[in-house]
Amino acid sequence: MNINLKKLNFSRRTFIKNFLALAGVSSIGTALTSCSRKSSKNIKIGLMLPYTGTYAKLGKAIENGFKMALAKNGELDPESIDFYQVDDESNPAKAVDNANKLIVKDKVDILIGTVHSGVVMGMLKIARNSDALMLIPNAGAGAATGSQCAKNIFRTSFTNWQPTYPLGKILMEKGHKKAIFITWKYAAGSEARAGFEEGYIKFGGELINTLYVPFPNVEFQALLTKISAVKPDAVVCFFAGGGAVKFVKDYAASGLKDKIPLFGSGFLTEGVLPAQGAAAEGLMTTLHYADSLQNETNKSFRTKYYEKYGKLADVYAVQGYDTGLVLSQSLNKVDGDFKDRSGMIRAIEGMSVDSPRGQWTMSKAHNPIQNIYLRQVINNDNKVLKTAWDALEDPATGCGLI
Ligand code: BEZ
Repeated sequence: MNINLKKLNFSRRTFIKNFLALAGVSSIGTALTSCSRKSSKNIKIGLMLPYTGTYAKLGKAIENGFKMALAKNGELDPESIDFYQVDDESNPAKAVDNANKLIVKDKVDILIGTVHSGVVMGMLKIARNSDALMLIPNAGAGAATGSQCAKNIFRTSFTNWQPTYPLGKILMEKGHKKAIFITWKYAAGSEARAGFEEGYIKFGGELINTLYVPFPNVEFQALLTKISAVKPDAVVCFFAGGGAVKFVKDYAASGLKDKIPLFGSGFLTEGVLPAQGAAAEGLMTTLHYADSLQNETNKSFRTKYYEKYGKLADVYAVQGYDTGLVLSQSLNKVDGDFKDRSGMIRAIEGMSVDSPRGQWTMSKAHNPIQNIYLRQVINNDNKVLKTAWDALEDPATGCGLI
């Protein structure tokens, strides 16, 4: 289902003025004169995100963070951009049609999306052969910055491999030598599992079984019974959004939480802690963000996000925010001339981003090189215990850009 198309027409001049202002350019008059001569059109930004289903809150947090970065310091008039929005429903079967609508019919300059790895694969089919600049604010499908990487495709989030690769080392440090992995059966779950297994084997662990449920099912009972029978040293999982709430609650209710420690890719406890309540207390996860990171950018970001949206920021809001930063920094480099695609691409390649997650840089394959943190849920908050891996770069297997 496509949700209502929001089309807001405002002048390119206002847009450029505000982008340059937020990017800290002081000689606006000069810059404006030269930019306004280049084109009279507004920038068109397509947001293809889930607004319904198990990932609905993730999509909204990304949009909030993205718009917050554009409006940084209150200087960007949001009405100076043409926004085109599509609810992708986390449905891979509709991904190509939805991306076609935004890129071919609406002719967006910038395509932002999405959350679900299967959906992003459909988007890539259209975006790779287009002139649009695509920024991926979540979906971790390895291929997007691996075998399917392309000049005009950048990711501001992670690959599914990144958060779980360091987790094997953590389990071994804690003496958990045999583990079971449980996840949804789709690219994000399979790739998170593969990342975990690679790191776990390297440090001497053994993944004894993987249990799958179809996405987005949340019937976990039969699998929890299996885990209880096998009695591994630890259970590791990938779930996110609404499914993560149900899994964490079911795991605790089954009595397993006190017997077999549960670990996860950090999405397990992102944006869902109030709903998970006591069931999440004590869980350890690895991710490229944590609420309690003490850098100034994070502290100020969390305060401003709460003031603006009345909600606590999570990793999805951070990724949306960073997407907005990447876009505004690249526009600044081309003096607001968003038709200068190759100039924008050059600006993003090798970009360093001052993010709430800590400073990260864009790899040659167009994916963040970033720290992965070990976190624990303490008093309903994702607290950092330590940096599990410094500046982790995805291997980007098969990417022709490297
Ligand atoms: C994915 O499908 O890539 C994904 C979805 C939610 C959280 C993390 C990854």
